Amino acid sequence: MYGTWGVFLGGILLLQVLQLSMGLDNGLALKPPMGWMSWERFRCITDCKLYPDECISEKLFQRHADLLVSEGYADAGYEYVIIDDCWLEKNRDNDTQKLVPDRKRFPNGLNALSDHIHNQGLKFGLYQDYGTNTCAGYPGVIKHMKLDAQTFADWDVDYVKLDGCYANISDMATGYPEFGRLLNETGRPMVYSCSWPAYQEDAGEMPDYESLKQHCNLWRNWDDIDDSLESLMQIMDYFAKNQDRIQPHGGPGHWNDPDMLLLGNYGLSYDQSKLQMAIWSIMAAPLIMSNDLAAVRPEIKDILQNRAVIAVDQDELGIQGRRVLSRNQIEVWKRPITPVTKNGHHSYAVAFVSRRDDGAPYRIPFTGKELGLMNPKGYSVQDLFDASNKLGVFQSNSQFITRVNPNGVTFYKFTAL
Ligand code: GLA
Repeated sequence: MYGTWGVFLGGILLLQVLQLSMGLDNGLALKPPMGWMSWERFRCITDCKLYPDECISEKLFQRHADLLVSEGYADAGYEYVIIDDCWLEKNRDNDTQKLVPDRKRFPNGLNALSDHIHNQGLKFGLYQDYGTNTCAGYPGVIKHMKLDAQTFADWDVDYVKLDGCYANISDMATGYPEFGRLLNETGRPMVYSCSWPAYQEDAGEMPDYESLKQHCNLWRNWDDIDDSLESLMQIMDYFAKNQDRIQPHGGPGHWNDPDMLLLGNYGLSYDQSKLQMAIWSIMAAPLIMSNDLAAVRPEIKDILQNRAVIAVDQDELGIQGRRVLSRNQIEVWKRPITPVTKNGHHSYAVAFVSRRDDGAPYRIPFTGKELGLMNPKGYSVQDLFDASNKLGVFQSNSQFITRVNPNGVTFYKFTAL
């Protein structure tokens, strides 16, 4: 009898030790999360009288949950509706110390909103901050971590973005894992998005990616994206310049996050919109839009819902791509994807990015060797933005010629034969 109990208790202990050593093993985000988030487009607009359709309010999130479904984004894979900053009252509840959503802008409370989102078959995300305050000055979690983790679970939250304003950077290496543990302890699976490395990088500290992988499902590596090509290019350059230390850590369950998609807003042209979508897919980035879904023009919506490009982003191997070559201001970005041949040759998604702004599309040839496309049987080539462009089979001893618009991209899948 005692022996059986011993084995039983020993088993439980072993399980607990395993669980501790595996850290955040919540089985979530096996593919880069896809969804919609308020910050880039709607920032901290809180005046609902002046801007009834834009203010951070339950209406904005209900409207976007509905649009995700009615406009076909949900079918394409966009799933999370995420409230960013500015949803809170400036003070916690006096008696319970719980966080309180703004009473005027969220009059029905977050359970009602969460139900609305879930009833649409979508998932609900929420922003908070590890420090004393959020970046926009609302109360942060630091002194109430256990209570807040439980409150999130009680609101049926599925995704938490934990920012890092008004916090000691030196506390983050222990504080972020601690909050992740508290989220896990609620028993509700919640994707955990950490901003911790972005703050460390900013302060000149080297993030510990092994620890991040253990404790977070995704993490913001660097600066916020703004609505411009310049901002987009700065982020691309940051990821490319630092790819040796960043790229290896992205993978199923733990992703690098270059920040939101700008498509559908004011700053990017049609070509530049394709460019962001292609490079985000090469980087295995979370595809989190931030736009007014009612105002997205049809041709931009087509880019956002391009199934072939989304399939690259969501490729099951989860290997993040890299910038592999740059010539005459044309950059080559490349990502290994499925299918893989019996002999171990990967297929590849390859994006050719033009950093040129001289008028005409720029024609440029590359050899198979330069592109690292050396499968002896060759590759069948698919133009991911133009299915009507039939490209046939590419042999590694031949040249691949592409023609890229200024500040634009061409994007192909090379399927190994
Ligand atoms: C920081 C984050 C942004 C956004 C704002 C909100 O700047 O990096 O993504 O969440 O805070 O205040």
